[in-house]
Amino acid sequence: MAEPQPSVLLNTGAQMPLLGLGTFRLRGPDEMHQVIDAALTAGYRAFDTAAVYRNEADLGCALRNLLPKHGLTRADIFITSKLGPRDQGSRAQEGCIRSLEQLGLDYIDLYLVHWPGTQGLKMGDERNPGNRAESWAAMEDFHTSGKFRAIGVSNYTLGHLRELLKGCRMPPAVLQVEFHPKLAQVELRALCRELGVCFQAYSSLGVGCLLSDPVVLGVAKRCGRSPAQVLLRWAVQQEVPVLPKSSQPERVAENGQIFDFHLSEEEMGRLSALDCGKKYCWDPSAVV
Ligand SMILES: NC(=O)c1ccc[n+]([C@@H]2O[C@H](COP(=O)([O-])OP(=O)(O)OC[C@H]3O[C@@H](n4cnc5c(N)ncnc54)[C@H](OP(=O)(O)O)[C@@H]3O)[C@@H](O)[C@H]2O)c1
Repeated sequence: MAEPQPSVLLNTGAQMPLLGLGTFRLRGPDEMHQVIDAALTAGYRAFDTAAVYRNEADLGCALRNLLPKHGLTRADIFITSKLGPRDQGSRAQEGCIRSLEQLGLDYIDLYLVHWPGTQGLKMGDERNPGNRAESWAAMEDFHTSGKFRAIGVSNYTLGHLRELLKGCRMPPAVLQVEFHPKLAQVELRALCRELGVCFQAYSSLGVGCLLSDPVVLGVAKRCGRSPAQVLLRWAVQQEVPVLPKSSQPERVAENGQIFDFHLSEEEMGRLSALDCGKKYCWDPSAVV
């Protein structure tokens, strides 16, 4: 059995593991079962899904079946899911209930607004801010009732975050955004630090594209680690939680081995110098 993973303290008082498994594009009960089994074996204790991934039910089922095999209970793991853009606004309560039902859970550790916009509305539509506020109010109620242990947001810009903080009863615990050496998100990270919001990374491998970057390959060769491990280490060494996704059990294990080595200051600097604002995923900056 692997050692417990390092974690970060959220503003709710809960601990969130620094390493979580991303599940975007994991499809079907068999693939999910195999990948979750590998992840639990490798010591992962956090799992990231979303209504739009359409795999909440598969994740819930895999965990129910596998936790006893690994000598674990529900309390040992941290599950994140997200409210889909189609449920933004007046359908938010319905969306929250659906996620709980799909996962088959009494509570979710962290629930995020997935995207600042609303499905079916243009990014510039003036109804977007009102819908976001309505979603947040519904999620605050689920937090109060204990169904969501923490609530947060994803893909929010500086503007979205400031607007939320002006009108909320409860500040977000987490901001989950794209983050890797080519997208260092300096301003967003600084605001999160100032506000006590945990900044969490997605697409740390640049959706796989950064694995062949010459600087990443150079650092990996020098420290005798894989490019994926170097990219993930770069983030967790800055206390930024990561969510690598792989459908291949051996890669899941490889991506979990990031707490037994350090990058030197010079190696961290070479990676950080790659920052050029490159986004491999969706860009929320046009959502009003
Ligand atoms: N909130 C949001 O809007 C948002 C957006 C994007 C992602 N996320 C979350 O973050 C997670 C991770 O992001 P992501 O899935 O976009 O991308 P990622 O983790 O940066 O990269 C995943 C890609 O890298 C490959 N890969 C993984 N480990 C590897 C290794 N050790 N060696 C070689 N290739 C490897 C995977 O292929 P194989 O599967 O074939 O191994 C896959 O193609 C998602 O699954 C999701 O949970 C959230």
